[in-house]
Amino acid sequence: MDIVELYDLLWDFARQRVVTVASRTGILSKLSEQAASAAELSASLNLDELATGKVVRALCALGLLQADGERYRLTPELLPHFVNSGEDLTAFIDHAHHLYDSWGASLEDWLRSGRHVRGQRTREQTKKFGRAMLASARLLAQQVVAALDGLSGVEKVLDVGGGIGGYACVFCRAKKELKVTILDVDQVAELGQQTLADTEFSDCISFQAGDYHQADFGSGFDLVLLANVLHIEKPQAAQNLIKQAAKALAPGGRLAIVDFVIDDEKRSNVMGALFAINMRSFGDAHTQPDIRGWMQAAAIDNIRCLDLPPAHWLITGAKKNL
Ligand SMILES: C[S@@+](CC[C@H](N)C(=O)[O-])C[C@H]1O[C@@H](n2cnc3c(N)ncnc32)[C@H](O)[C@@H]1O
Repeated sequence: MDIVELYDLLWDFARQRVVTVASRTGILSKLSEQAASAAELSASLNLDELATGKVVRALCALGLLQADGERYRLTPELLPHFVNSGEDLTAFIDHAHHLYDSWGASLEDWLRSGRHVRGQRTREQTKKFGRAMLASARLLAQQVVAALDGLSGVEKVLDVGGGIGGYACVFCRAKKELKVTILDVDQVAELGQQTLADTEFSDCISFQAGDYHQADFGSGFDLVLLANVLHIEKPQAAQNLIKQAAKALAPGGRLAIVDFVIDDEKRSNVMGALFAINMRSFGDAHTQPDIRGWMQAAAIDNIRCLDLPPAHWLITGAKKNL
């Protein structure tokens, strides 16, 4: 990196912040519905006109908006991710805005002391986090279905740490007769049950409330999913989750792991290396050789790894017919 690139990097804070604040104030969703000038936007969203002008021009320079004269519109590539559906990216962007604050507040102290207090989420924070995970799952889950041949041969699924059903809903949409059990902590399982009650998913998705370190995973599953769960854990606990997941599979059943990509030395992949910091000292971005080794030790073979953009991979394998 040279000094010009370093100078540019030091302004990353502004890129992130201008995007998240445009989402929080409704600028991005408004511009997904129709083109508008800065004056029209500021009037309809009750924002300062001069400030709105600067923000939309910066969003244009960053490539989120297209300009047509004085009017702006979200780019066609981003439009589908802002259509208000409850699964759009808005909740995830809000989560990123919050992460920015919490990172800044605790990073130096953690670096100096190695200490990081993981506060218990309140009910409201759990709801927000659940919605953010739904939005990010939407980006990845369809790719997982495609990679698993449209879930062919799969009838019974266990989704460990499945949240309020981001993956489960996409799976059930792809295959109507599926039965998915989501194992998650009490507060999340309760929220998931409430969220999916009286929806098209209430018959196919059920919740098992409990701690995945202690819970009985059951047996006879055709597919066990560990999506964005291993990184919460240190190596020993992550390996143990894979062991329990493998035990819960029927012979020939498949294990699917979705997580952040990281290179073997953990120092080339930028997103992976940054995400490892996000997990502070309690978790980590685990390497492919580690994950493959844990799968092999749990009698999982035929292991494959696929890129799952943005920033993730899907590692799959099948339980040996012993
Ligand atoms: C990063 S989120 C991933 C959610 C979902 N799998 C996805 O990829 O969108 C991790 C999930 O694991 C759950 N979780 C964390 N620790 C857990 C534990 N000890 N027992 C059960 N669930 C846990 C969290 O409540 C959360 O829903």
